Amino acid sequence: MCGIVGYIGNKNACDVILDGLNKLEYRGYDSSGIALNMNGKIEVHKYKGRIKNLIEKLAPLGCNSQLGIGHTRWATHGAPSDKNAHPHSNESGSIALVHNGIIENYVQLREWLIKEYNVNFKSETDTEVIVHLIDHFYEGDLLDAVYKSIAKMKGAYAIGVICSHEPDKIVAVRKDSPLIVGLGEDENIIASDIPALLKYTRKVYLINNDEVVLLTKEGVKIFNENREQVQRDIFHVTWDAEAAEKEGYEHFMLKEINEQPKGIDVTLNRRLDENGRISLDGIQITKEDLEKINKVYIVACGTAYHAGLVGKFAIEKFAQIPVDVDIASEFRYREPFIDENTLFIAISQSGETLDTLAALREAKRRGARVLTIVNVVGSSVARESDDVFYTWAGPEIAVASTKAYTTQLISMYLIALHMAVTKNVIKQDYYDLLISELKALPAKVEKILENTDTIQEIAKLNFEKQHAFFIGRGIDVAVALEASLKLKEISYINSFAIAAGELKHGTIALIEEGTFLTAIATQDHLFEKMLSNIQEVKARGAFVLGVAKEGNKQIEQQANKVIYIPDCIDEVTPILSVVPMQLLAYYMSVLRGCDVDKPKNLAKSVTVE
Ligand code: G6P
Repeated sequence: MCGIVGYIGNKNACDVILDGLNKLEYRGYDSSGIALNMNGKIEVHKYKGRIKNLIEKLAPLGCNSQLGIGHTRWATHGAPSDKNAHPHSNESGSIALVHNGIIENYVQLREWLIKEYNVNFKSETDTEVIVHLIDHFYEGDLLDAVYKSIAKMKGAYAIGVICSHEPDKIVAVRKDSPLIVGLGEDENIIASDIPALLKYTRKVYLINNDEVVLLTKEGVKIFNENREQVQRDIFHVTWDAEAAEKEGYEHFMLKEINEQPKGIDVTLNRRLDENGRISLDGIQITKEDLEKINKVYIVACGTAYHAGLVGKFAIEKFAQIPVDVDIASEFRYREPFIDENTLFIAISQSGETLDTLAALREAKRRGARVLTIVNVVGSSVARESDDVFYTWAGPEIAVASTKAYTTQLISMYLIALHMAVTKNVIKQDYYDLLISELKALPAKVEKILENTDTIQEIAKLNFEKQHAFFIGRGIDVAVALEASLKLKEISYINSFAIAAGELKHGTIALIEEGTFLTAIATQDHLFEKMLSNIQEVKARGAFVLGVAKEGNKQIEQQANKVIYIPDCIDEVTPILSVVPMQLLAYYMSVLRGCDVDKPKNLAKSVTVE
């Protein structure tokens, strides 16, 4: 997500901040900017694109300042552009602010500021409301104005603020978005993450939620939400910069797997009100629109295609509309039955996959309404769609998609339920049950992540095998396909997934002594059938890993090893069962000595055919 750096001290703030922003590049960004206090005035420079762009524009200006804040932006509200880039300023330009997070009530705050105070907004961001709020409350004390502003804000934020009337301070706040303070000799730094300040200091204050920090050149004071000063022990950083970027994880993939509870929580809960009602900001499909829709196509590539398979299940079951799922490179060259009564759903992490984009254009040309589920704000797929649902997974760095996938699944469930409610075809009890099961998922994923011993043990037993098979029934087929893709992508094991009932029609010929086969058996009504399939392959010598719900212990009699997922209703199992499969692929890849984050021959964003 976004990166923040702020500096106060004797060095040239511009150099320190740009250097820090470069170190935060790994977080992913689409624009960058800086605000510097120069001779009593705040100067802001901000541009779309790489930090290099910002550095080139600043170089001839020879900026020299001892106070400033900088930012790398990963767009969530408003496309990547110069005007949406941070820092944002108040009307007079005396206050500048950088923000990482999402302000949930920004629409209300924005309307209030416009109506009551005629504020002129310059960007489409949620962030800009904060700087106008601070301006509104400012009476000569920046710290006080910040406290009054955050009392009005809902959501997640780490912010850094400077003011030309008080050029001896930076005020920073942390609530559910990362923020740390680096302590130097006559200089202090704020940052989103440790790599940004390692060059200058290894002494750090870790800031807690709801704390406000006042930085001067001479010192740092931390206050709690009641404005009382709190003491903090100094944390001494012992890692090197590269390890710090991965927050201590050995690989980005493992970090991203572990970020899934947060990604799921944000993508889900920001779309639900206190009563469990869904509100989808970027989707304007009315009851009348839905009544006309007689066919849905879900089209995507790779992992996103597997999310589409679960999407088909959800839309058909909850909203009772027939759905076809297709691979984008196939869809674009056949002659699909599409007219103005077709809803086309594209799923893409990057929003730049050429085949997905081409399929979307083809569907539009034929008259379909286009809805996109996408992670990158302002991407091509998002820009060309009628309706957009953003997954809030944050930037995904590892080539193998993990957290983007689970947030795509959540998105599919929310869209399917929204359609069902709009069409009035779902019973209230069933809806309430589904919402409570979805809400319970972040904690359940966390539980799976807490104990990976069995998964590591299974990886050790099987990592030298040349082939792997995955089977499942019902929605477990989608999970089997995704599990198989993950494994082959990063470990180069020849992996194959198939519906369990199809085994006997050919694939079972390949099963021999020691063949590694994973049977995903989470669906209660198909459990017995899966046990029979496991017996079939066990009888031919396979090493069987079973994946089942906690209560279904019977599987232990058939499988060599079992991974249990926390109990849940059948409908939502894919979000849980895929997590141990991601971890299995990860550990196998590590044991085989592969380049986990950058597998050979693969690219994160495939913008060619
Ligand atoms: C590439 C990546 C996959 C990804 C697919 C679709 O093949 O390696 O991980 O699933 O593209 O990408 P998208 O950005 O459209 O989701």
